[in-house]
Amino acid sequence: MSDDTHAEIAHAEQVQARFARTAALIAERERGRREALREKLRRFVPLSGEESVLDSGAGTGALAFALAPLVREVVALDLVPELLDLGRQAAAEFPNVTFVEGDATALPFERDSFDLAGCHRTLHHIARPELAVSELARVTRLGGRVLIIDQIASADPLAALELDRFERVRDPSHTRLLPDVDICSLLDANGLVLRASHVEQEPRELDSYLDLAGCEGPARERALESAPSQLVAAVGWYLAAKPVP
Ligand SMILES: C[S@@+](CC[C@H](N)C(=O)[O-])C[C@H]1O[C@@H](n2cnc3c(N)ncnc32)[C@H](O)[C@@H]1O
Repeated sequence: MSDDTHAEIAHAEQVQARFARTAALIAERERGRREALREKLRRFVPLSGEESVLDSGAGTGALAFALAPLVREVVALDLVPELLDLGRQAAAEFPNVTFVEGDATALPFERDSFDLAGCHRTLHHIARPELAVSELARVTRLGGRVLIIDQIASADPLAALELDRFERVRDPSHTRLLPDVDICSLLDANGLVLRASHVEQEPRELDSYLDLAGCEGPARERALESAPSQLVAAVGWYLAAKPVP
């Protein structure tokens, strides 16, 4: 087995351990934010109500449940069984949402399977985000759309490194935030055409942000020491079309 494969397996194990531990908190936060996310999506993504949608790296179903009443069906995929179990419990309210275990960098779906394929706050937990974006593009049908919502990095490389260091102390499964230019380049490299984007500022309360990642003991102390004085995340929203040739 190559060193790269070892590193990818080790990272996947880190993701599983971190998110299994905090699954209940993630589900609670998802419920609390569902309506607000739905309203933002309603404004950002034109929908007919007939779409088949993929939420890749769904956790307990944030994007899936926000979109469920607005589309025909949603498949929510994640690596972590504990998150999927909680998602399935909540799906009783949304019979058009199905949870599937899988890897966002090697999706278990045919080419052209979905009208809309997206991920919400997931790319920065993936060691090779370029694979996750190319998989979103592959499973989207011609004429369909790809949606990416994620915290983005500062355009200043030093500020970006510093924030990633803090984020990794808080949560070792954090890989790195991509800057706006990289997300746009990944969309472009996969033949996707950007149709809309914006960045929103999201103020965060430090203690609850550390709690959400299960950051305790010495790691919490280090995170408190290295936290930026103003914790405001820049969250990028990107909607891109997969054009018909
Ligand atoms: C910060 S959480 C966001 C979850 C959800 N999208 C939300 O907004 O609440 C990141 C998610 O990415 C998932 N994840 C990380 N790497 C993954 C991979 N390679 N394949 C599938 N899911 C992955 C984690 O299990 C976790 O659920």
